[in-house]
Amino acid sequence: MSCPADADADAHTRPGPPLPPLHRLDFDPPGPPRPVELPDGTPAWLVSRYADVRMVLTDSRFGRAGLHPPDSPSLSGESGLVSSTDLIFNQDGEDHLRLRRTMRRAFTPRAVARWRPWIAEIVEQRLDELADSARPADLVAGFTLPLPVAVISRVMGLDSEAQEPLRHWSRYAFSDGSHPEEEIASALKEFAAFGAGLLAERRKEPGDDLPSALVQAADEEGGIPESQLVDLVCGLVVGGHDSTMTMLGNSLLYLLGERPEVWPRLGADEQAAGTMADRLLHLIPLGDDRGTARHAATDTEVGGVTIPAGAVVLADCGAANRDPEVFPPRPLGDLFAPLAAPTLAFGAGAHYCLGAWLARLELRLALHRLAARLPGLRLAQPPESVEWHLGTTSRSPQRIAVTW
Ligand code: HEM
Repeated sequence: MSCPADADADAHTRPGPPLPPLHRLDFDPPGPPRPVELPDGTPAWLVSRYADVRMVLTDSRFGRAGLHPPDSPSLSGESGLVSSTDLIFNQDGEDHLRLRRTMRRAFTPRAVARWRPWIAEIVEQRLDELADSARPADLVAGFTLPLPVAVISRVMGLDSEAQEPLRHWSRYAFSDGSHPEEEIASALKEFAAFGAGLLAERRKEPGDDLPSALVQAADEEGGIPESQLVDLVCGLVVGGHDSTMTMLGNSLLYLLGERPEVWPRLGADEQAAGTMADRLLHLIPLGDDRGTARHAATDTEVGGVTIPAGAVVLADCGAANRDPEVFPPRPLGDLFAPLAAPTLAFGAGAHYCLGAWLARLELRLALHRLAARLPGLRLAQPPESVEWHLGTTSRSPQRIAVTW
């Protein structure tokens, strides 16, 4: 299997001081909801306590669709697929439920558990290639990027030739805003044509893959516009590898840079690796963004404060995951200790991450097997010298030089 992407193609640099690794980001202590401004000056409300964030994410008075009314400019900072009104993530109520049901039937935890053997096989293939490569090696190009891309390609029933174009479209779909609008529009048009073609092929000739299960479930359900199905498939391709790649890269930067003492146990004990993966997911944010946005349909009280109808609300899962009322202080501490309460790393409520099972399994196997196969793995560059790949809401290392 070829390495799907040249990490250089992802290169974006943001002017200004160097960015700290994500595990070192500071979070303000959680407090009552307070007014803030989005980067473009739009007023919003920031919600940061664990209980308040859970409430906003689980209460139907706070939705996504109101953020993207037809013909409105996209929400500040969002471009590409993320602001599409056809995307599952931007639907509310019955439209959203219909899409979720379709997806849930195709993507159950039991189905994901059955994928374990071939996911483990892909992990070993990547590790074989990495172990044979010249040192220092780049852990991003050799492991954290190609692994999730190969997994989502297999889930989608695509061969390895599709992997390079998938990465190309993903960069535009999750653009950090630095790509010209026409380039984004043209890449997304190509991506949508690819998604539509894939669905048409699987409708004609079903296989043992997610798009085949999706079209079958959608046709039985009925009433789902094709454009929503296309965005679902494209969203899954992008969301299905970009977040996992980001999490894996940022986690390894932290573990190799600051926590080498955990490496032997990580490699020896898969279950402990699973607990650690959950803790890393909980504590290392995907990016610098503070909060996932919602729109308040009515005046609603949250944590003793009335948020007015029409307000944009930012639910800060990163701050809530550090709320001392729920999680003991010294957040990173013992990485093998189970969490005191359910994490908000995958959200909560109606839009709870559909890929959480898959992401957790991939991270668990990847971290465990990497530590088992390369017990002497260490960074070959200071963590501070890492350059970043920026996405719409994510940030991950462009390269991680390692040796062993
Ligand atoms: C480490 C990996 C991942 C993380 C941290 C993550 C995180 C999240 C979060 C926080 C949300 C909810 C956002 C909100 O409510 O504002 C979400 C939604 C979603 N995720 Fe993930 N995700 C990951 C991997 C995946 C994978 C592997 C897939 C698919 C294969 C996936 C598919 C989705 C979809 C489809 C939604 C939207 C669900 C909806 O709107 O109903 N994610 N994810």
